[in-house]
Amino acid sequence: MVLMLRHLSALSLALELLLLLLCSSGTCAKVKETCKTCKNIVDKFHKGLEDTSKKNFGGGNTAWEEKTLSKYESSEIRLVEIIESLCDSSDFDCNHMVEKHEEYIEKWWFKIQKHHSNLFKWFCIETIEVCCPNGTYGPDCLACLGGSERPCHENGHCKGDGTRSGDGSCSCYDGYTGPFCLECEDGYYNAERNNTHSVCTVCHESCKTCTGPTNKHCQECKNGWSKNAEEACVDVDECAAEVPPCKDNQYCLNSEGSYSCKDCDRSCTACVGEGPDKCRNCSLGYTLEDESCTDVDECNLGEKVCLRENEDCINTPGSYKCACSEGFEDKDGTCVQAIEKTEEAEAKAEETSTKHQESSNIHEDL
Ligand SMILES: *[C@@H]1O[C@H](CO)[C@@H](O)[C@H](O)[C@H]1NC(C)=O
Ligand SMILES: *[C@@H]1O[C@H](CO)[C@@H](O)[C@H](O)[C@H]1NC(C)=O
Ligand SMILES: *[C@@H]1O[C@H](CO)[C@@H](O)[C@H](O)[C@H]1NC(C)=O
Repeated sequence: MVLMLRHLSALSLALELLLLLLCSSGTCAKVKETCKTCKNIVDKFHKGLEDTSKKNFGGGNTAWEEKTLSKYESSEIRLVEIIESLCDSSDFDCNHMVEKHEEYIEKWWFKIQKHHSNLFKWFCIETIEVCCPNGTYGPDCLACLGGSERPCHENGHCKGDGTRSGDGSCSCYDGYTGPFCLECEDGYYNAERNNTHSVCTVCHESCKTCTGPTNKHCQECKNGWSKNAEEACVDVDECAAEVPPCKDNQYCLNSEGSYSCKDCDRSCTACVGEGPDKCRNCSLGYTLEDESCTDVDECNLGEKVCLRENEDCINTPGSYKCACSEGFEDKDGTCVQAIEKTEEAEAKAEETSTKHQESSNIHEDL
């Protein structure tokens, strides 16, 4: 009866039809009824109960109605309303499960719930058998590894826990390993351990493997650390190595367990640190002055560097540029008086100035 009262949405009908077609052509994948789908349905059912808890029969609810009709609270009308809210119309798995097992939901509503209030347990686990009790897995709801009370000794996830699938094996959390998640991974040590409980704690950052919390408890040091006279793992200063690990134009920075290479200031070709005052050699176009590599002003050297007529010298960091003086412009390599600018000439001038810039950039690179 409930089935007849419900209206199937057009979309879910279409999906059903599609499945029929696929199945008749022999490529039908068996519809999988999963615990997750069932769980969602039960959650929606509880929400539906909540949403309808303040309702009655369309406002009237007179004494007559209370007497003659069964109360709304436990009525079929209310059940239908709830069932209609269980699935999104596009959720094929959900619609399929509700339609297939609607009679059970109805039975629970009218007969079972009085003495078996847990819908999830009755419906999903015991009746349609798509879920298992917590801590169990698979078709027969067997106990997970480590037992159903504390699957995987609470250090991992049991595959298939609470469902009719999976194999009950453990996938351990970070730090734990072994079939029962009682052993510690490399980089962790057992802070607590007996037959049933295990707590793995991360080693000191210097250890690859360890037996306790400090750098003295390392069995093996991590890369970038090595054992000192007291058998503790300490940082290796890679920068002090006989063959330094960085390029000529870089300096080396040591850090705990590692090192890094940083580029020297542009005024240096070799350096011991950051900035122009940490140079060991100055770059071309710079000279050592007050223990710092400073830019050479090529425009103020005794010898003139920009030799064309009507040309200015412009100093740049590490180099210089030659450019036509104001009021002059470059024409075929000489600086000539700029002609008065019409719009057309202006565009042309712009073009040549870009070209000039390119050529002066090339000069700068030298
Ligand atoms: C079962 O496990 C789920 C998820 O871990 C949890 O939310 C739920 O409360 C558990 N149920 C029982 C009866 O312990
Ligand atoms: C194992 O250790 C846990 C916690 O450290 C403790 O609660 C438990 O009783 C211990 N079990 C045995 C058999 O000693
Ligand atoms: C840097 O200067 C040193 C001498 O101080 C010299 O031996 C070395 O070749 C120079 N390196 C470069 C890259 O110029």
